[in-house]
Amino acid sequence: MDCLTVTTRPQDWTGDLLCIGFWQDQVELTGDLALLDGCLGGAVQELITETEFKGKPGSPSVTRLGAGSPVKKLALVGLGKADPANLEAYRKAAATVAKTAKSQKVHRLGLFLPPSDQPAERVAGALTEGILLALHQDNRFKSDPEDKPPVLEQVEFLGIDGGAEGITRAQQLVSGVILARELVAAPASVVTPTTLAETALSLAQTYGFNVTILEREDCEGLGMGAFLGVARGSDTPPKFIHLTYTPPVTPHKRLAIVGKGVTFDSGGLNLKTQGGIETMKMDMAGAAAVLGCFKVLGQWQPPVLVHGIIAATENMINGHAMHPGDILTASNGKTIEVNNTDAEGRLTLADALVYAEKLEVDAIVDLATLTGACIVALGDDIAGLWSSQDELAEQLLQASAATGEKIWRMPLEEKYFEGMKSPIADMKNAGGRSAGSITGALFLQQYVQKTPWAHLDVAGPVWSEKGNAYAGAGATGFGVRLLMQWLASQ
Ligand code: BES
Ligand code: MN
Ligand code: ZN
Repeated sequence: MDCLTVTTRPQDWTGDLLCIGFWQDQVELTGDLALLDGCLGGAVQELITETEFKGKPGSPSVTRLGAGSPVKKLALVGLGKADPANLEAYRKAAATVAKTAKSQKVHRLGLFLPPSDQPAERVAGALTEGILLALHQDNRFKSDPEDKPPVLEQVEFLGIDGGAEGITRAQQLVSGVILARELVAAPASVVTPTTLAETALSLAQTYGFNVTILEREDCEGLGMGAFLGVARGSDTPPKFIHLTYTPPVTPHKRLAIVGKGVTFDSGGLNLKTQGGIETMKMDMAGAAAVLGCFKVLGQWQPPVLVHGIIAATENMINGHAMHPGDILTASNGKTIEVNNTDAEGRLTLADALVYAEKLEVDAIVDLATLTGACIVALGDDIAGLWSSQDELAEQLLQASAATGEKIWRMPLEEKYFEGMKSPIADMKNAGGRSAGSITGALFLQQYVQKTPWAHLDVAGPVWSEKGNAYAGAGATGFGVRLLMQWLASQ
């Protein structure tokens, strides 16, 4: 499927489906649109009137045009409240249009939107992202996919001059989001720590990254008792994955992205019995986002050096599983009383963060499906952000605004760490019921000494029960676009 910009005006375009976008309460047929309405014998105004179209976001108004018309079908799509700087409105409109094109079995689509005040590269990029993200469908596990692949061959963004580079970069970005989605969506019997390691090896092979996979014995040698404590209960071997992307120029910055890679979280002996276990194949979504980023890094080649770190394991129960009450020693020497085996993510991340800090980077960002409490606090659409440094937090908030992947800064309230104090070890791994996402973040903070660090609790937005503007039900690929925007803006 091709996306391209063309300077063609809507009244001169021919094809299967012409989509016209409007800002809310600005549904006026002037200029090109008045000419188009003339060419189509008043069909545009008729559709507006008939469907009482006001430009609100949501399903477009669609109509078939008479035989002999230069366009077969016409659709009106609402962009919501007028804001020509808001690329998210363009992304969402493009996604909506792509879904319509799919259901209407359209081959050639033309999209004409009110002008943005952003550069053509960025507008064309946002539109391409919206289209490609909405069209992606995962049929890997269907014997007879009812949902046939879309027949869409070409999408033309009308009235835009240039922007080809933006389209290419968006295609590369989406390839990373789709990798992340597919890793998360695959069952835990398919995506194991070994699969994650193989994915890293294959990315390294394709793009020339450095890659190291540490086996259980290597991790023992490094004293990663927290990570290995979790891995003990699983019959599937853990893998500690370290990828490095080195740019072709002197790096502007050296950064580390760390992803929680629990390929299945049963809860361990504190078994997940109150529901929630069914979707725990998604507990490696942080790791999937890191791997997705490397797929994009290999293609974008931004001027930063990036380490990707994943401590991959299952959280299972066998005869060797850690017991509640066990004391683990992390690779920085700190001891942890495991009062809840279901707070396993932070145990794996503790050793991953210590490892990352030893690489002497300028900043560390971790992504983790760390707590259900974060979903209680911020819902399904917004990730929690904690950071030891305002500047880093600000950079991530800016990346969030640019990509539409929502995050909200939360406090590292030190007093709450009191609930994590242990009478027998340096700390417990789980606090009480209140402020569960904050105590999770405070625990991680113990494993970063001086490097600017940010933690993203992505438990909510990596998974969508019903699907959202650009993703079908299930894995969303959250985090790849946000992190790539941050990495590329350094
Ligand atoms: N993987 C879960 C968090 C999670 C829950 C992610 C729901 C996505 C959806 C994590 O390992 C976990 O079990 N956290 C516990 C922590 C508690 C025991 C302190 C939780 O949130 O209940
Ligand atoms: Mn858990
Ligand atoms: Zn977990």
